[in-house]
Amino acid sequence: MLEHNYRVYMSREIVRHYSQLQQLQPAEQSILELLHSEWVNMRMLDIGVGGGRTTQHFSTVVQEYVGIDYSEEMIKACQRRFPSASQSRRFEVGDARDMKQFQDNSFDFILFSFNGIDVISHEDRLKVLQEVKRIGKSGGYFLFSSHNLQGLEREFAWQNKFSLNPLKTYVNLIMFVLLRFFNRSISLRQIKHSDYEIVQDESHNFRLKQYYIRPQAQIDQLKADFDNIRIYSWESGLEITTQQELCVNADMWLYYLCTIK
Ligand SMILES: C[S@@+](CC[C@H](N)C(=O)[O-])C[C@H]1O[C@@H](n2cnc3c(N)ncnc32)[C@H](O)[C@@H]1O
Repeated sequence: MLEHNYRVYMSREIVRHYSQLQQLQPAEQSILELLHSEWVNMRMLDIGVGGGRTTQHFSTVVQEYVGIDYSEEMIKACQRRFPSASQSRRFEVGDARDMKQFQDNSFDFILFSFNGIDVISHEDRLKVLQEVKRIGKSGGYFLFSSHNLQGLEREFAWQNKFSLNPLKTYVNLIMFVLLRFFNRSISLRQIKHSDYEIVQDESHNFRLKQYYIRPQAQIDQLKADFDNIRIYSWESGLEITTQQELCVNADMWLYYLCTIK
């Protein structure tokens, strides 16, 4: 599964796709604004930098910026997109599961955006969190997004597929059938009772297997090494501030901002 996801991120058309993305997602924009007075002193690591979508927004405000990706092709694309590498901005091949090239307490802000953390196994995800804790400074920030199992719950129920627009209903039903076909071993009941699931979802035409987690389970996973966990809707960019709101949230993915213990 993981090897397969890696191959997807090495393929030419996927690299081209990520190299063309430019905009920050609303939640990323909110964090950029939230920490506006702190960027100038920050050393930042952008994990899973992909084609450099976030680079233009963050590398221009921080003191030092390092982008890593386990896909050599993504790193080559970043180097082409931002040819003037300097002391303060660089890209290198690196795997989030083992970032031995970086010393302990190296970074003030670590980003793993657009659900990059979801294409590895549960065990590897825990390794990444440990590595982030190790190379991040105590009190520094970790921002990442991850797929929301509550959003998937909605996608798995056919009752939610109908709309007043017949064309939309048709497309929804096709996507529903494909989703259920590619995930025949997963039932709606199972999703309702689990903390996380690995799902072959519609991204890149059902080529990736991705990790979906219940927000409360994500909070529990972070608790040992991270504090001040704040959750943002990827879509509205607004912080989700109450437990009630969080329990019913069905965004397909959420952004988590926390500080390193
Ligand atoms: C969905 S793409 C997002 C790319 C970019 N951050 C963006 O937002 O446009 C996820 C990226 O994470 C990278 N990635 C996945 N697992 C990784 C790992 N273990 N270490 C480093 N990069 C990884 C993939 O190669 C891919 O470029």
